[in-house]
Amino acid sequence: MARRKIVAGNWKMNMTPSQAVALCAELKDLVKSDSVDVVYCVPAIDIVPVVEAVKGTNVKVGAENMYFEEKGAYTGEISAAMLKDAGVEFVIIGHSERRDYFKEDDALLNKKVAKAFEAGLTPILCCGETLEQREMGVTMDWIRLQIKSDLAGITADQVKSMVIAYEPIWAIGTGKTATTEQAEEVCKGIRECIAEMYDAATADAVRIQYGGSVNAGNAAELFAQPDIDGGLVGGASLKADFGKIVNY
Ligand code: 13P
Repeated sequence: MARRKIVAGNWKMNMTPSQAVALCAELKDLVKSDSVDVVYCVPAIDIVPVVEAVKGTNVKVGAENMYFEEKGAYTGEISAAMLKDAGVEFVIIGHSERRDYFKEDDALLNKKVAKAFEAGLTPILCCGETLEQREMGVTMDWIRLQIKSDLAGITADQVKSMVIAYEPIWAIGTGKTATTEQAEEVCKGIRECIAEMYDAATADAVRIQYGGSVNAGNAAELFAQPDIDGGLVGGASLKADFGKIVNY
């Protein structure tokens, strides 16, 4: 089955609302594509203006995080229903920065994935190893553990519709991209893990992105790999280069 490529920008903690609107205008024509899904995952405060700014374009909007509870006394958190109502379609869950700086563990992330589906959002579930884990040779064991824990109780049909992003932590924001072979090897391993947990059809349908220092120069080779269905792009999603990555 031919999977449609998906290229998502993760803006992280960048862009004030007015800067966000200006960036959408700057990128509007550059990110046009009939063959690739384009998503901007933006800070919570930018969601409403960005949804407005990309109306009538091919760009879809994602959030960078959400909380798993329905509503109530969770000061500072944002619910799946709020995101959905604001026009968000995707939500990044379990980015390594959230796992590391905000101590989000797999049990919590599993609840977030389930809640995202319940609200009709598409999760972009992130996984990835540290440099230490890679050097110890436990990369795939670690990632399999993350995937199995984060997807506990999630159905095959749900997994078919979601996105998994493989982001080696040592490649994020460092300019050190994984080699094409390293990226493909792990993305293939993730697909095999999904096949074991579910079935071949589910593994065949789930879209797996690579993330970590993706840029206009390396996107084409990475995205040409059989198990890499696009990218989750940090730094390069904030500039005109993002258009080149979309139209790799
Ligand atoms: P960079 O593209 O800046 O390395 O960030 C990758 C990332 O973390 C995307 O989620």
